[in-house]
Amino acid sequence: MSETLLTVRGLVKHFPVSTGLFSSRQVVRAVDGVDLDVKPGEILGLVGESGSGKTTTGRSILRLIEADAGRIDFDGIEVNRLSRGQLRRFRRRMQVIFQDPSSSLNPRMTVRSLVGEPLLVHGIAHGAELKRKVGRLLEEVGLEPSAGELYPREFSGGQRQRIGIARALALRPEFIVCDEPVSSLDVSVQAQIINLLVELQRRYRMAYLFIAHDLGLVGHLCDRIAVMYLGRIVEEGSAERLRMHAVHPYTKALFSSSLPADPSKARCRTAPIPGEIPSPVDLPSGCRFHPRCPEAVPRCRTEDPQLKTVGEGHRAACHLLETGEDALRNHPVC
Ligand SMILES: Nc1ncnc2c1ncn2[C@@H]1O[C@H](COP(=O)(O)OP(=O)(O)O)[C@@H](O)[C@H]1O
Ligand code: SF4
Ligand SMILES: [Mg+2]
Repeated sequence: MSETLLTVRGLVKHFPVSTGLFSSRQVVRAVDGVDLDVKPGEILGLVGESGSGKTTTGRSILRLIEADAGRIDFDGIEVNRLSRGQLRRFRRRMQVIFQDPSSSLNPRMTVRSLVGEPLLVHGIAHGAELKRKVGRLLEEVGLEPSAGELYPREFSGGQRQRIGIARALALRPEFIVCDEPVSSLDVSVQAQIINLLVELQRRYRMAYLFIAHDLGLVGHLCDRIAVMYLGRIVEEGSAERLRMHAVHPYTKALFSSSLPADPSKARCRTAPIPGEIPSPVDLPSGCRFHPRCPEAVPRCRTEDPQLKTVGEGHRAACHLLETGEDALRNHPVC
C-alpha cells in the first residue's frame, strides 16, 4: 500500500449566499484549501463537527458538485478535467453512500431498479443477468433477493442503508465516500451497518473516505484520520498516532468528548468544546479555532497557523507547535 489512489490538493468550494435586508452577496467558505491522500484499500476518516465542510469535500471529490479550485487525481487521472461523458464512465470507480438513505433513494423505484440502475446505465447487465446480479448484491448486504420486488418505504432505516450500500457496491468501485452512513440510524443498528461496511471493504479491498462528526465511531476502523474545522484540515495522521499523540487542541477536545462514559476514566476527560462552530460566512481572524480554544495565545487572534509535520505522517496546524513544551502536551491516553 505505498502508492496513492486519490490525491486532493488545494480544494476550495465557496457558496455565494444572499443575506440581510439588502441581499448583500456573501460567501460561505465551506472548503477552504484542503489536501488529502488516500491509498488503495485504505480507510481515511474525515472528522469534524457539523458544518466543518466534510460533505462538501466528499461531494467535490466525486464531482457531484464542482469545486472552485484545486486538483483531484485518482489513479493518475485528473478528475477535475474530465468532460461530462468521461466523468460518467469514470463514475463506476468512485461511489458514495449518503447520510440519509430515505432521501437518497428514489421512493418510486423498486429496490431491484435502484440497485440495478448503475449496472444498466453502464451496460454491464440486463434482463435475467441483471436480476441475478442484483439478487447477489442484496445477499451481500444481508437482504433477501426477494427484497428486489419491494419499495424503499417498506424497509427500516438500517435496511434502507443496506440498499444504498448495495447500489454503491454494484459497480465494484475502488473508492467510496461514506458520508456519515449511520448517523441517521438507530444506535441499535449502527454497529451492524459499520461492521458490514468494514467487511465489504476488506473483501473487495476498496478505499473509503469515511466521514463522521464523532471520533468515537470511526477511531477504531480507520487507518488514518484527518480532522476538519471550518473548511480546513487542522490535524492528520495515523489513527493510532492521533489517539496517543494528538497535538491540536480541537482534536484533543474531539477525542475527549468521544471517550466512554466510564467514571474511572473521568480524570482523562477535558472540558467539552465550548460554544458553537462559527459561521463559515464570517470566519474568525487568525486561527479559526481561537474563539473556542482553551489554549489560545495572543498571536492566535491574528496569525493563521499552517499545517506542519510533527511526526511520521503526522501534521497539525497550531501555533503552540512552535512555542515549546506546551505544544506537545499529548492527549491523555485512557
Ligand atoms: N449548497 C450550499 N449553499 C450554501 N451553503 C452551503 C451549501 N452546502 C453546504 N453549505 C454550508 O457549507 C458549510 C459546510 O457544510 P457541509 O459540507 O455540509 O459540512 P459538514 O458535512 O461537515 O456538516 C455549512 O456552513 C453549510 O451550511
Ligand atoms: S493556533 Fe492557537 S487558537 Fe489555534 S488551535 Fe493552536 S492554540 Fe488554539
Ligand atoms: Mg455532512
